[in-house]
Amino acid sequence: MPDLSVNLAGIQSPNPFWLASAPPTNSGYQIMKAFETGWGGAVWKTLGVPVVNVSSRYGALNYRDSRMVGFTNIELITDRPLADNLREIEEVKRHFPDHPVITSLMVESREEWHQIVRDCENAGADGHELNFGCPHGMCERGMGSAVGQEPDVLATITQWVMEVATKPVIVKLTPNISDITEPGRAAVRGGADAISLINTIQSIMGVDLDTLVPQPYVDGKSTNGGYCGPAVKPIALNMVKNCAQDARIGLPISGIGGIENWRDAVEHILLGATTVQVCTAVMHFGFGIVREMTSGLSRYMDEKGFETVGDMVGRALPSVATWENLNLDYKVVAEIDEQKCIQCQLCYIACEDGAHQAIGLPEGNGRVPFIIEENCVGCNLCSLVCPVESCITMVRRDDAESVTTWSDRVAAGTAPTSFNDQRGGGVGHYVPEPSKGIGKISR
Ligand SMILES: Cc1cc2nc3c(=O)[nH]c(=O)nc-3n(C[C@H](O)[C@H](O)[C@H](O)COP(=O)(O)O)c2cc1C
Repeated sequence: MPDLSVNLAGIQSPNPFWLASAPPTNSGYQIMKAFETGWGGAVWKTLGVPVVNVSSRYGALNYRDSRMVGFTNIELITDRPLADNLREIEEVKRHFPDHPVITSLMVESREEWHQIVRDCENAGADGHELNFGCPHGMCERGMGSAVGQEPDVLATITQWVMEVATKPVIVKLTPNISDITEPGRAAVRGGADAISLINTIQSIMGVDLDTLVPQPYVDGKSTNGGYCGPAVKPIALNMVKNCAQDARIGLPISGIGGIENWRDAVEHILLGATTVQVCTAVMHFGFGIVREMTSGLSRYMDEKGFETVGDMVGRALPSVATWENLNLDYKVVAEIDEQKCIQCQLCYIACEDGAHQAIGLPEGNGRVPFIIEENCVGCNLCSLVCPVESCITMVRRDDAESVTTWSDRVAAGTAPTSFNDQRGGGVGHYVPEPSKGIGKISR
């Protein structure tokens, strides 16, 4: 059996799956239920001066038949008294001493930071996460992402916390910034032990076309919220990768954003995360998803020969290059499996109107499209729109040996530098056919 236990900056956890600070970690009752179900650790719903929340407060992006592909909220931090939360932290630690409880914190003054860190440690917290990411409500009061967007302020507040913290401190970053490594480096300057990312992305979920009010609806008005769920995973992965690759950061990472199953979690880990945190998927499907996550991770590690989670951390990073170091000689073209094709012709339409006119339709009765190899640039679009698994595959056509990168071409003086340097071409001429009301391409 592979070893699923992890250690993030001194925080020991039976597995890498943590609940993110959010409604699923609002109370001791929920966290104990989650630990019983199999979650390794939990980041408590952000503690501070209790807030007053609005109703309603969530919105969702549904896509075709999929519910909650993206999720938004305009909820603030905890609305429960600190004393209640502290009592419940003690209770959780009494029942689950081996499961880390991280207290997410957000207050204003240095005195408040000192006080809340001490209170949480007295209650038994195993670490702290500084919420410098909430992009709505709290930032208008100078907290949350208002701090995360000002690296020097972030570093100063982190230092305040480090003055009194005896447990590891994780700085949670906001993605609402152009370069995520800036606040990452500020966390290092402040003395943090780890970083976590991402918090939610500032967003407007949509506008109700009847009421003309964006969602979520609060008595005829709305406001910008924080976007999360499956739709944000690619953004989160890129930011985790950017921080993991930055030698000036070098801190352990807790990856957050769009994690719904063991595969999503492994992707975060391969790009540099040691633990992962989950919010929306638990709000959607409940604590039980962790069973599939742990069994899937174990199976994957067995298959790949990874003995510990630590062995996997950052293993995809060496294959993330900058664009100018990709091989321009590598060449693939699409191939259609005629047996699998259901003749929907989505690939033809996508390629004809949206890409490179590299798919043709047979004359006569046939309906299975064919690839025009000389036009195919190997972009993948046809295989992505094809509804049949493995019907369109990309097959290699280069000599599998030569490597020329953009950097090589610039160095060799063979890169285009003026408007007319690149080879000419085009795929054909548009010939109007007025009798049919539409033209066609003559190749
Ligand atoms: C309803 C809701 C409330 C949240 N509250 C907090 C919070 O109090 N503190 C915090 O640091 N992050 C909070 N978050 C952000 C999550 O912890 C997490 O960073 C984000 O949702 C991305 O993860 P996901 O894609 O798994 O949802 C909240 C998210 C949601 C959806």
